[in-house]
Amino acid sequence: MLNKILVALDVESRAEALGLADALRGSVGGFKIGSRLFTAEGPSIVRALAERGDRVFLDLKFHDIPNTVATAVAAATQLGVWMVNVHAAGGLVMMRAARTAAHDAAEAHKLTPPLVIAVTVLTSMNQAALRETGIIIDLMDQVLRLAELAKEAQLDGVVASPRETAAIRSRCGPGFAIVTPGIRGGAAAASKDDQERTMSPADAVAAGASYLVVGRPIIAAPNPREAAEKIAAAVNR
Ligand code: C5P
Repeated sequence: MLNKILVALDVESRAEALGLADALRGSVGGFKIGSRLFTAEGPSIVRALAERGDRVFLDLKFHDIPNTVATAVAAATQLGVWMVNVHAAGGLVMMRAARTAAHDAAEAHKLTPPLVIAVTVLTSMNQAALRETGIIIDLMDQVLRLAELAKEAQLDGVVASPRETAAIRSRCGPGFAIVTPGIRGGAAAASKDDQERTMSPADAVAAGASYLVVGRPIIAAPNPREAAEKIAAAVNR
């Protein structure tokens, strides 16, 4: 059975990240490494987890010219990551270059290509913030447009807020991965922290999420493994 829970290792140091991964290994589906931990500790933390057999989602949201993104995705592939992401706003050519690079690098190094997924509109943006950047269409329409563009580029899926998940699922079909953060309540700790639009683990999966990114409800719990197992039991069926 595929474990849908991806734990955000939002910690400062390699030691803390490895400690959490050791505590959680076997109870979750993978670990997300974001720009904070990666910038502080570098690629060795990715290698360390990959060498232990963990699935690593490298959440660096690449957004650059196609050649630069392609070479970055190739480098991530060689590190052994299982999932990597780019900004869909980088465009069709950039996303196609990312996918091709993942497959070419995997073939050259006899590895499995990572899933390449796209960020649509950052969930920290609202309609007014989007407008300030010159995008004047409805925010949800922009999310769906970018999700469809990612699909056209043959990417494996998108990152989406819980409230976007159902619309993307119905627009992009069953084979498209939707990775959903903002998980609170139900089997997860209810404290919202700085998340505004949240959904319980079971509701997010019912709305069509393929994977749930969960940080603080697991990593800040008194017993992270117990918290992870409780959430996993609510969604992995
Ligand atoms: O602690 P929490 O469960 O809120 O962590 C969620 C993780 O997902 C964090 O790493 C956060 O940066 C990330 N994320 C998010 N909302 C998005 C995209 C990513 O919370 N829209």
